[in-house]
Amino acid sequence: MLSWDDEAAAAPRQPQLPAGAAGDESTAEQVALRVNADDKRIINGKTDVNQLVPFKYKWAWDKYLAGCANHWMPQEVNMQRDIELWKNPNGLSEDERRLVKRNLGFFVTADSLAANNIVLGTYRHITAPECRQYLLRQAFEEAIHTHAYQYIVESLGLDEQEIFNAYNEIKSIRDKDQFLIPFIDTLTDPAFTTGTIENDQKLLKSLIVFACLMEGLFFYVGFTQILALGRQNKMMGAAEQYQYILRDESMHCNFGIDLINTIKLENPQLWTPAFREEIKALFLKAVELEYAYAEDTMPRGVLGLNATMFKGYLRFIANRRAVQIGLEPLFDQDENPFPWMSEMIDLKKERNFFETRVTEYQTGGALNWD
Ligand SMILES: [Fe+2]
Ligand SMILES: [Fe+2]
Repeated sequence: MLSWDDEAAAAPRQPQLPAGAAGDESTAEQVALRVNADDKRIINGKTDVNQLVPFKYKWAWDKYLAGCANHWMPQEVNMQRDIELWKNPNGLSEDERRLVKRNLGFFVTADSLAANNIVLGTYRHITAPECRQYLLRQAFEEAIHTHAYQYIVESLGLDEQEIFNAYNEIKSIRDKDQFLIPFIDTLTDPAFTTGTIENDQKLLKSLIVFACLMEGLFFYVGFTQILALGRQNKMMGAAEQYQYILRDESMHCNFGIDLINTIKLENPQLWTPAFREEIKALFLKAVELEYAYAEDTMPRGVLGLNATMFKGYLRFIANRRAVQIGLEPLFDQDENPFPWMSEMIDLKKERNFFETRVTEYQTGGALNWD
């Protein structure tokens, strides 16, 4: 059993306000308790998590600001043309309709898994307040994404039960989620704490699975499909929503990769050869699952896309994620079969690819006190 002292040493320091300061002067004891940026750590830190500054992880704060600057809401996007197209019996082929439904079938629950993983899992184990600040913003963005998918389902008048239960009922979707769930369960288990090599590796593995394989790989067949529809002037409202979501997700993925690399830097003992082998095996499994999902959503090829083209694309993305966290590329695949997807990620909100209405939150939010 832990003694009081062990417990206090294991937990991040909570504010302790020593008595005895006269007037406004800080005592030497109080000054000694102040947060020193050099003492901050991403995991297992002992500094007060309630004090955002002094900054140590400026990259996390900058991403928080960028996330806020990219703010958007699903209702801003006009869905009228999508509704007309969906209701028109000749508007879309059966294969295109299957693709849209399977696509939404994955996404309507995926971002709730993501949000729960952040709020109930990751957040507790991260001891850098700058990173927590970003995670709070990210959690809200996941809520917006779930809202966007729900808004599309509602606008098109799809069967909610069918779409929201796809992750239980459609094998290719269920397999992806079942791959993820053990890694989410690790972090959300109330009894799980970091502080040993074994548990710190478990945390790092879950962060890698989440950033590189869920947000960084499992989303990409789905994003490409809906954006390909948009490029053919079909489902333009949905495509615009997905474009905003893709931009958010690529920032989530980049934040996750910076987080992973900083944890590696601060805790080099975690990055053992055996651990790297485990991570590689997870990458290979994820590519296999996402490819099976591509085949299931496009059994015959649709929109000039087919599952085989996605094999190359998934290998290209998996290589990129591997290199981003310091692993060797996993596949012999240097070319991106969908170069137009890179342009989509670099979307500037004020010059939208689809040239629809845009609200600028950065300038429009001033309060009037009169
Ligand atoms: Fe999301
Ligand atoms: Fe995300």
